[in-house]
Amino acid sequence: MRNAYAPYSDFRVGAAILTATGKVFVGCNVENASYGMSNCAERTAIFSAVSENGPKLEIKAVAVTNAKGVACSPCGACRQVIYEFGPDAVVFYQAKQGPAQSHITELLPEGFRLK
Ligand code: THU
Repeated sequence: MRNAYAPYSDFRVGAAILTATGKVFVGCNVENASYGMSNCAERTAIFSAVSENGPKLEIKAVAVTNAKGVACSPCGACRQVIYEFGPDAVVFYQAKQGPAQSHITELLPEGFRLK
């Protein structure tokens, strides 16, 4: 989160993923002047894990936080990317009521799979 590049939204986000082999990878959001090119913290963490450790990634858990301490669960795009590598993942996030955890399929019912 401290490394976030968020000059447009000023909303700094950090994420961590726990893999089936017990490794932890972290990521932050990286924005762009062409706003749609921005990358969320969750996807940064996942892409970092694949690039560091290879394609056999199994995500057990995801945690996401932000510098403003407001409610923030993963966006739809990140839910689909989490599901790709963690169809049984638990996601920890800040809900309106406080800290929350949900199974990825609660956040993303009927996620898309090719295999
Ligand atoms: N963002 C994340 O990194 N993760 C989330 O779960 C929600 C949103 C980022 C994207 C963008 O850089 C900023 O927060 C504002 O939407």
